This record gives sequence, structure tokens and C-alpha cells, in this order.
Amino acid sequence: MSMIPTAHNGAKQGEIAKTVLMPGDPLRAKYIAETYLENPVLVTSVRNMFGYTGTYKGREISVMGGGMGMPSVGIYTYELFHFYGVEQIIRIGSAGALQDGVKLMDVVIGMGACTDSNYAYQYGLPGTFAPIADYGLLAKAVDTAKAQGTHVVVGNILSSDIFYNADTTVNDKWRSMGVLAVEMEAAALYMNAAAAGKKALCMLTISDLIYGEEKLSAEERQLGFGKMMEIALEL
Ligand code: ADE
Repeated sequence: MSMIPTAHNGAKQGEIAKTVLMPGDPLRAKYIAETYLENPVLVTSVRNMFGYTGTYKGREISVMGGGMGMPSVGIYTYELFHFYGVEQIIRIGSAGALQDGVKLMDVVIGMGACTDSNYAYQYGLPGTFAPIADYGLLAKAVDTAKAQGTHVVVGNILSSDIFYNADTTVNDKWRSMGVLAVEMEAAALYMNAAAAGKKALCMLTISDLIYGEEKLSAEERQLGFGKMMEIALEL
């Protein structure tokens, strides 16, 4: 464990919990820590990618920003799994809906994460790796959502490297394969978890509709986000 602190994480040995919740935005991590955790302590602020550790219902839990995109999330989650002894990372993010049945504020859980990224290249596999959620975390999230009366949509998501795509037909193609929503991080998280023999889950609140005009107000955004948080904190 002499790898820590790392170039990207200033936390010391033992300062990060076995479970990490990971929003993209570091200020969202700060908000979550201050709103939901008891006794939150800032354990890293390298590059302002804030990470906090506190407790929730008596259990130690950390929350840390992961940034935008697979290179960023790839770095932070790799270090958490391999150097900090983290056992499970739950991404809590936002996404754009690709299906008509997926509405604003819906909570989507990525059972699998398709990707246009080259992240899997590093493993030298003789085919296409299918990045998937940990089944235990997925099942528990669905059970918790049911108990809380929260509607969740479970299925395939797309982790894309490209927010502003020059090819305007790509969304149609993923949509035609039943992919529920597009975000930019889950596939790298799922691959890092698989390679490390650890657990991961990606939960998303729908913040925009790729095939619709409707937009989320700030209040609605917070409401959908809160429902997702109440599930994530139980995992
Ligand atoms: N995150 C939220 N909305 C998104 C979108 N439309 N594309 C990619 N990532 C997103």
C-alpha cells in the first residue's frame, strides 16, 4: 500500500471507506457528504476532486467526485479499488434518455454499459467485453427501490466518449438496440471493477431527453436526485 497518497488522491491509508458513492461533480460530493452523512471529513481535495468519509446509519461510507468521462473516472476508481482497499463503487450520475418510455427524473440503473470507448483495449481480449453491474448490488438496488416505492428502469445504458458528436445519427442506432440512456462513465467503472475483482453499480437520474424538448427544473432535478440517493445509501 505504498502507492498512496497518489498523484490524484490525497487520502491516507484507512481514510476511505469500503463503499464509495461517486457523483461526477466534486461539489455534488460535498453536498451529499454534508446533507446525508454524519461527521463527514474531507479526505482528499487534489485537483478539487473532493472526497469525504463519514457514516450513514452507523456504517462508514465515502463520497468522492469522479469527474466527466471514462479517462477521469478510470483513474479515480482504479486507485480506489487497487490502492485504497475499496470494495464497491456506486456511481450516482445523470443521463440523457434514449427511449420514449424513459422520462425526466426517472432513475435508470445500468445493468450493462455499452460503449464507443477504447477502454477495453488494455485487456487484450479476443472479442468484445460486456461491462456489467455487480448482480448483488443491482438486485439490492431494485429491492430497495421497491420498498421505498420508487420507480426504477433497469437495462442497458451507453457510456460515450463524445458529448457533442459530429455524427448526429449515433443516438438513433443505440436507441434501436433498446439502450435506455446515455452517460459518459459507467463502462470504465464496470471494467475496472471486473479487472479488480470488485463490485460496481451505476445509477442515473434522467436530466435530459435526447428525443424530446422537455427540460428539468432545478427543483425537479433535486427531487429525482434525492430518490436515487436514498437507494444508493443503502447499498
Ligand atoms: N449526462 C447527462 N445528459 C447527458 C447526455 N445527453 N449525454 C451524455 N451524458 C449526459
